[in-house]
Amino acid sequence: MEGVEMPVRRLPAYLCLATVVVFLLIRAPLAAAWGPEGHAIIALIAETNMSSAALRKSKIILRGASLEDVASWPDEVVSLLPQTAPWHYIDIPLHDSTINFRTECRNGDCVLVKTDQFLAVLKDPNSRRSQKALALKFVVHFIGDLHQPLHCENNDDAGGNKREVVFEGHPDRLHWVWDTGLLQEINPNPQQLAAELERRITRQERTAWEKGSIEDWVMESHRLDQKIVYPDLGTRTPATIDSAYRRAADPVIERQLEKAGVRLGWLLNSDLN
Ligand code: ADE
Ligand code: ZN
Ligand code: ZN
Repeated sequence: MEGVEMPVRRLPAYLCLATVVVFLLIRAPLAAAWGPEGHAIIALIAETNMSSAALRKSKIILRGASLEDVASWPDEVVSLLPQTAPWHYIDIPLHDSTINFRTECRNGDCVLVKTDQFLAVLKDPNSRRSQKALALKFVVHFIGDLHQPLHCENNDDAGGNKREVVFEGHPDRLHWVWDTGLLQEINPNPQQLAAELERRITRQERTAWEKGSIEDWVMESHRLDQKIVYPDLGTRTPATIDSAYRRAADPVIERQLEKAGVRLGWLLNSDLN
């Protein structure tokens, strides 16, 4: 075959690069939250912790829909309502231990203040049903988001959205790994995982979790970034999500879903009017 030119079948380098970039963008939208699975699990746990009166009120407000039906709605409308994108997170610098509201929650556009505002709409006896429906959809979603540690920090990487890691042999974003990747590995069936997590919650845990403010829960998430999410990545870039990382991260994810579900149920039991 010497001297014979063979046709080149390889894709040009720029096309390969473009494919990888498009793949990453599709899998990791910037303002994403837990994926739909995480939000459904939290809603299901919340419903098992709600009184029959609160469940009845939520059904009336949502015109028959369940909490899991609406739990991911704020993510579905974020491109239609771009002003709501910053409501899903709060960018507290990783090494800070307090919130600077002026810089991290400008005009109240962050998950902490928006959750409190929408809870106030739910509580207000003068709110109309349509206002309560909107508020309830955001509360169900945002209580979930603020329990995802990466929604409560920034390490010059947009909450891990710009931090590349290797997950299951592929390049991915750290934020997507925590929203969706690890959770799908734990159990891809939200109903099954919700039931399993719910079974594990002890009475003492429930009592310990049913207290505090939205700000306390945001800071609790933030401390998980400082203790586990980032330090356990090590110093290699891109870091590989290996079995040691999974052993540290998976129980945190499970615990955060349990806490979010219990706390959401607790809030709705008192705030649904
Ligand atoms: N975009 C910018 N920062 C973010 C964060 N912490 N979480 C989700 N999306 C973000
Ligand atoms: Zn979200
Ligand atoms: Zn997210």
